[in-house]
Amino acid sequence: MDNYTLTILGCGTMGTAMLLSIMKATFQPYPAKFICCTGDKESAEALQKRFGDKIEASYGESNISAVKRADVIILGLKPYICESVLEYVKSGLNGHQVIISLLAGWSIERLSKYSSCIARVMTNTPAKFGHGMAIVSFSKEAQKYEDLVMNMIGTVGKALKLPEKHMDAATSLVGSGPAFCLLMLQAMAEGAVQMGIPYDIAKDCAAKVMEGTAKMVMETGEHPEALKAEVCTPGGTTIAGLLVMEDRGVRGGISRGVEKAAEVAALLGKK
Ligand SMILES: NC(=O)c1ccc[n+]([C@@H]2O[C@H](COP(=O)([O-])OP(=O)(O)OC[C@H]3O[C@@H](n4cnc5c(N)ncnc54)[C@H](OP(=O)(O)O)[C@@H]3O)[C@@H](O)[C@H]2O)c1
Repeated sequence: MDNYTLTILGCGTMGTAMLLSIMKATFQPYPAKFICCTGDKESAEALQKRFGDKIEASYGESNISAVKRADVIILGLKPYICESVLEYVKSGLNGHQVIISLLAGWSIERLSKYSSCIARVMTNTPAKFGHGMAIVSFSKEAQKYEDLVMNMIGTVGKALKLPEKHMDAATSLVGSGPAFCLLMLQAMAEGAVQMGIPYDIAKDCAAKVMEGTAKMVMETGEHPEALKAEVCTPGGTTIAGLLVMEDRGVRGGISRGVEKAAEVAALLGKK
């Protein structure tokens, strides 16, 4: 697909995060035109002002033509309004456009009413800073566009493919994951504050520790347990802290929390 138009239907938090990532990147084939659709005039004008002539902003009735001109559509709508918006712009859909859906809970089957080429994506808010993670599942017809979609979605940070049956778990791990990490980050910082370290310094330390640890896992490819064992001097501080955390059920609490969020994601999909 060359010289194609990318329309972002619902260019809010996640839609704009995707747009920014794509604009910062170079990949092939690259969109020739960006059209960004919102729900009202004010938000469309704000996008136009922010991105200037790099995009065409659209709202209301012109969203139908924005969809009609699209070869690839990124769906960034809230799940509860998606049906009504898609029904509204339906006359602009030809059934073969590549629809890349960022929506939580919307299955490929549900979206297949609007196109045979569906890529279902679960990403997260760090995408706004180029440090996002994305899991992507494809409909059978969309598989011929895998390279294009993976290159485009990979611009958020990292993208991996998984069969759709894993999407509820991915919604929890990837979509809700930043909140789980933030809880841990804040808890670590507060432990330091309790001992007198000023909050801003404690927060920066906790954030850098999490960033550095994550990079260490990714760059070494080592099992986290092996890296953890390296830090545990016999009779030392780290093992003492870890044992208290294990006694308090931190590990089980986090793992079960990830499982619970996936259960809720599965329920969302049934609504
Ligand atoms: N935020 C997250 O952390 C996160 C993480 C993973 C996945 N997601 C998924 O990403 C999707 C979008 O979430 P979000 O947080 O980015 O939502 P959001 O910021 O509220 O953005 C929604 C966008 O849809 C537009 N919109 C509303 N009505 C419309 C209409 N009739 N026609 C065209 N556009 C319309 C809104 O425009 P106005 O501003 O004019 O209303 C806004 O640009 C959701 O489905 C969510 O499941 C979000």
